[in-house]
Amino acid sequence: MTRPGTISELPVLDFSSAEYRNAPFPVLSGWARKWKIAQSGRGVELLDYELCRKAIVDRNLGTGHPKLIDLLGLPEGRPLEYKRNSISFHNRGDRRRDLRRPLIRLLSEEAAESFRPNIRKVVTDIVDAIPTDRPVDLISALCDKIPSAVYCHWVGAPLSDADFVARTSHTVQQVHTREPRHTPAVVEAFEALIDYVDERIADRRRTPGDDLLSDLIRAEVSGQLNADDLRNWVIKLAEANTDNSSHQIAIAIIELASRSDIWAQLGAQQELTSCAVQEVMRYHPRTISTSREVLSETELDGVVLPEGTPVFANVGATHWNSDYYSAPEVFDINRADEPLHLNFGGGVFSCIGRFIVTVEVEETVALLAKRFPCLTLDAAGFAHSPMFTCVTQLVARLEPEDPQRRAQSSRYAAS
Ligand code: HEM
Repeated sequence: MTRPGTISELPVLDFSSAEYRNAPFPVLSGWARKWKIAQSGRGVELLDYELCRKAIVDRNLGTGHPKLIDLLGLPEGRPLEYKRNSISFHNRGDRRRDLRRPLIRLLSEEAAESFRPNIRKVVTDIVDAIPTDRPVDLISALCDKIPSAVYCHWVGAPLSDADFVARTSHTVQQVHTREPRHTPAVVEAFEALIDYVDERIADRRRTPGDDLLSDLIRAEVSGQLNADDLRNWVIKLAEANTDNSSHQIAIAIIELASRSDIWAQLGAQQELTSCAVQEVMRYHPRTISTSREVLSETELDGVVLPEGTPVFANVGATHWNSDYYSAPEVFDINRADEPLHLNFGGGVFSCIGRFIVTVEVEETVALLAKRFPCLTLDAAGFAHSPMFTCVTQLVARLEPEDPQRRAQSSRYAAS
C-alpha cells in the first residue's frame, strides 16, 4: 500500500504568468494532463473533472468564504456583520438548507422559465435603445444593464437604479481578487448597498407587489426566513448578480458573434441557442475555479489535507480535459452526451442564480443573432484570474449586413 502524500510534495502551479492570464484554458488543460492535484500560493488545486465534482459535494469540505474575508481584512462594521450572517459563511447543515430553501424555490428552473417573457422584454427594451449607426461599448450599454435591470424588477425599484446596482456589484465582487487594497472600496460599496436594500425592503413592506422581494417578504411572514435573513438575501442577490452575469453575457457575445457561421446559424435557427450558450459556458466559463476549505483532516486523491486547507476546484481545467470532452479546444455547439459544465459549482453551495442567468444569456444571444446577423466586434478583450474570466472590452456595431466587417470581427475568437 502506498503511503498518503502531503501537500508539500505536490507540484506548484503559477497563475501569474502572462501565458495563463492571456489563455488560461490551454495552460490548465496542460497541467491537468500531468496532474490531478497540485498546489499554488492560494492552496490545493484540483484539476480533474471527477475529482473536482467529488470535492464540490464532499461533506468534509466547507465554505472558503470566511478565510477569503479574513484575507481582505474587512473591519468590524455592517459589511462584515452582513458577510458573517449571509449564506456564504454557513457550512453544510440544517441552517444552510433552511436558508437556501425559499430561494431555491423562487429561482428554480421553472421560476426562471416563468420570468423568461419579462427577461425578453428587458433585453428587447435595452437593445432597442442602443444606437445602430456607430460602435458601442456593449459592456455598459447592454451586458451590465440586463442583470441590473432584472434586479430592479426583483426589488420593485425604478430602472434608474440599475447603474447603482451594477456599479455596486462590480465593486463588492472585488473580494475575489484576494487583494486587501480593494477593501476600502468594498466596504464603502457594501455600506451604500445595505442602505439601499433597507429602503427597498421598507418600500415593499408598505406596498407589496408581484416581485421577488415581495415573495421573500411573504416567506418571512410565513416564518421561512427571519428579518435579518431576508435582508441578507436581498444584499446577496445584488452582490452576486450583475458582476457575474454581465461578464458571462459579454463572453457569450464575443465567442458567438466572432464565429460568423455559428452566429448566422443562431439567427436562422433560434432553437440552437440553448446548446450554444451551454458550449460558451464550457469553453469559456465565467467561473475558472470555486473554493472550499477542509473542515476536518481528509484525503483527496491520496493526499492528506489538514483541517483548514483551502481547496480550489479548477472548473476551467475540467472543461478542457480530453478525458471528458472530445477535442475540448474546439468550440462545438453540437456536443452531446458529455458531462455538464461546472460553471455554477454544485451541491449545497451551487449557484442560486444559475437558471435565471442562463435565461438572460439565452435571450440576449437569441435577440442579437436574429436582429443583427452582421453584428461586428470592433474591440474585445479578456482578463483571466485564477477565479474568473473578466471581459475588459467589448465594442461592437449593431448594424445591417457588411461582409467585410464580419471577416474582421472573426479574429476575436478565443481559440
Ligand atoms: C454567469 C453568471 C454566474 C456565475 C458564473 C455564477 C457562479 C457561481 C458559483 C461558481 C458559485 C459557487 C458554487 C460552488 O462553489 O459550488 C455561485 C454561488 C452563488 N451564486 Fe452565482 N453565478 C452567476 C450568477 C448568479 C446570479 C445571477 C445570482 C443571483 C440571482 C447568483 C447567486 C449566487 C449565490 C447566492 C451563490 C451562493 C450560494 C450558496 O453559498 O449557497 N449567481 N455562483
